[in-house]
Amino acid sequence: MQTLAQYLQTQSLNPALENLIFTLADTSKAISLAVRNGALAGVLGATEQENVQGETQKKLDIITNDMLKNALHDNLAVRGIASEEEDNIVEANSEGQYLVCFDPLDGSSNIDINSLVGTIFSTLSMQEKVPQGELSEQHFLQSGRKQIASGYMLYGPSTMMALTTGQGVQFFTLDHKTQEYLLTNEKVTITPDTSEFAINMSNQRFWEKPMQNYIDELLQGAIGPREKAFNMRWIAAMVGDVHRVLSRGGLFTYPTDHKNPNKPYKLRLMYEANPMAWLVEQAGGKASTGYENILDIQPSHIHQRVPVILGSSNEVDICLSHHQGGNQGDNGDELSDQVAPSLV
Ligand code: AHG
Ligand code: MN
Ligand code: MN
Repeated sequence: MQTLAQYLQTQSLNPALENLIFTLADTSKAISLAVRNGALAGVLGATEQENVQGETQKKLDIITNDMLKNALHDNLAVRGIASEEEDNIVEANSEGQYLVCFDPLDGSSNIDINSLVGTIFSTLSMQEKVPQGELSEQHFLQSGRKQIASGYMLYGPSTMMALTTGQGVQFFTLDHKTQEYLLTNEKVTITPDTSEFAINMSNQRFWEKPMQNYIDELLQGAIGPREKAFNMRWIAAMVGDVHRVLSRGGLFTYPTDHKNPNKPYKLRLMYEANPMAWLVEQAGGKASTGYENILDIQPSHIHQRVPVILGSSNEVDICLSHHQGGNQGDNGDELSDQVAPSLV
């Protein structure tokens, strides 16, 4: 089996980018250890701090953020960093040519129940050289199509890395003995058809009509218009759900909902939706908001949220056909909890 280093040598990447991928991979080995030791390392539980998005930060959100931030800051190829757990962008090295966006720990509500969590990363290039002190959020606001290396690390029964540099998707598995990532799937491919979907069903009454109609057809199974039974899975960590989709097909969605009128979308574009959408496309699948290809969105700010529908191409097409002709904002019957608690 090829090591990550051996594999990357065959890809003729810019050496600085290769080095950046090693920094991410090496840091994930330390994160994997902290996650594995759990209560023994005293890393479980929440802090009293909130991130810029108003979410209570878990201890491991902060620990993993600091690990990645410090390691990337020390890499001379890195010009700047944007993280879920940092209010603002962080400037790194003036000569650096890359920008790294990351979710240091995705699915952090799973930490305290010893379930799947992961790290998601997306790398962009600096489009212009700017003097130290002048890096701004504006430099990060590039569409997902501009990504140059993206992927995730999954801290599960095995620690795995999924990577794309635009030449397909590769899975690597961490050999805990040698601490090497080994290539275990060189050409990840998503089956175009599926009978498995992933959605948080508890939000059903808050979805837009197109999504309500689509899921309703799946739930009718063999006696419904789809004439087949569907299975459902929800890991509550996008990284785990997308890994399943890449491994055996499926449709994953976190759609628009009207539970909280101030927060109609959950997943963040720059460090959740974009890297996952690119992986899915590189593996032959599709990714959309319902109305637009995720990779074509021009970001307006680093913590922007978007609706996400991704996975097996034919199934995503069927879901999108429900959205055609509809307008974004075409609400379901229910209003928000705040507005209509009696209907809940
Ligand atoms: P994070 O832990 O980085 O804030 O992300 C959690 C996200 C995503 O990973 C997952 O798909 C979703 O939140 C789970 O949402 P529910 O709590 O609605 O299940
Ligand atoms: Mn996340
Ligand atoms: Mn997170």
